[in-house]
Amino acid sequence: MGRLVAISNRVADPRKAAAGGLAVALGEALNQTGGLWFGWSGTIVEGGTPGEGDLHVQQAGAVKLATVDLCREDHDSYYLGYSNNVLWPVFHYRLDLAQFEAGFIGGYRRVNQMFARKLLPLLKDDDVIWIHDYHLIPLAAELRGMGCRQKIGFFLHIPLPPPLIMAAIPQHEWLMRSLFAYDLVGLQSEADVQHFSRYVQQEAGAEVLEDGRHRAFGSTVQVKAVPIGIDVDEFASLTHGREAQDLYERMREEYARRRLLIGVDRLDYSKGIPHRVKAFRDLLAHYPENRNSATLIQIASPTREDVDAYGDIRRELESLCGAINGDYGELDWMPVRYIHRMVARKRIPGLCRAARVGLVTPLRDGMNLVAKEFIAAQDPADPGVLVLSRFAGAAEQMKEALLVNPYDTHGTAEAIQQALQMPLDERRRRHQALLAGIREFDVHWWRRTFLQALSQAGAD
Ligand code: G6P
Repeated sequence: MGRLVAISNRVADPRKAAAGGLAVALGEALNQTGGLWFGWSGTIVEGGTPGEGDLHVQQAGAVKLATVDLCREDHDSYYLGYSNNVLWPVFHYRLDLAQFEAGFIGGYRRVNQMFARKLLPLLKDDDVIWIHDYHLIPLAAELRGMGCRQKIGFFLHIPLPPPLIMAAIPQHEWLMRSLFAYDLVGLQSEADVQHFSRYVQQEAGAEVLEDGRHRAFGSTVQVKAVPIGIDVDEFASLTHGREAQDLYERMREEYARRRLLIGVDRLDYSKGIPHRVKAFRDLLAHYPENRNSATLIQIASPTREDVDAYGDIRRELESLCGAINGDYGELDWMPVRYIHRMVARKRIPGLCRAARVGLVTPLRDGMNLVAKEFIAAQDPADPGVLVLSRFAGAAEQMKEALLVNPYDTHGTAEAIQQALQMPLDERRRRHQALLAGIREFDVHWWRRTFLQALSQAGAD
């Protein structure tokens, strides 16, 4: 195989800890093979020229990082605007939060064109190009337009919505047509593949060929579910690292008489954090034996704070947590500990291991790697229980978790109670099955499976 060229909006030095599932998984995948990682530098240049940005190249171990600055206008229309005010909410089924401002699409196209222009001279003939996520859907079409003939694959880390929801985006046809410039489109789940397939059949009269290829808009693309995984050994070794171990011991000591429940998320409205906190309040109301005992630590790291919907969720969550602590708290016990800060990735496994219950209850999520990390961090002899939303992509694979509907507050509270009461042998049995699954379908499996399918795609 030729050199791997990965392209994503967010790029992180793979030798350093990164927040967000995509950057962590891509860093791990690239560390295995080496190659080039191209994307936004994270820098916003005030007063710069739209469609122009300086390119920076640096070597980070086996991986070469090539990143481009964005001027304020491009950042606001491409990243905040079209990516995070249109595509993110709609793809997570939140039409109510989408802002279809006419100016956004121009910035989205402009930045994708600039990325193509900056990337092209860095490419070699036998490179394998792997583009990631919703920020860069039209990038292959732009590259093809500039003469790029290499294999190009795309992986969408977030859900692909059903056709009628997709159709709410004014440029939906253009977006879906852009996907046909790829040789392979990888999605997180079978549900996403079905949505893609139904859309292109209903809206574009696509023909579905055997082996998952779809023919429409005058070209053919292979579409496949390749659920992303974690590096189980890397996470297990973090679990035994000093930072995680210290935190684990402190937590075990502090919660010796109590039960710890844990949630770790970016503070994003798709994660269902207020719904989760309401379910926890329902637990305290209906199962009073948990008062003065069950404690929820919710880490909600700040994210995309310049998008209005994120400010709203923050205020909602703060008032909810305050109300529960006011209603149920005791002088020596607070039911919810809410932390609106980034917690170092190295410490998270310690927290997960000390928890009796892991709450991963998004309203909609492409995959959710925290669910997999929670399982990897557990002590197999005395594991905690995962309560998982049926609307996370992970639910297709992690059937031995307690699956819940996060909109059903009381049903979720009952599942949490079941988790708190679960006997040791059942906890072990479920954990063993879940661990085997995340080991088999880990991040290396994801990279291998995608790249193998890409090398075979379009080979007819
Ligand atoms: C999700 C997306 C990623 C994104 C990450 C963090 O995992 O799928 O593409 O990088 O969130 O969000 P941010 O906007 O900070 O890049």
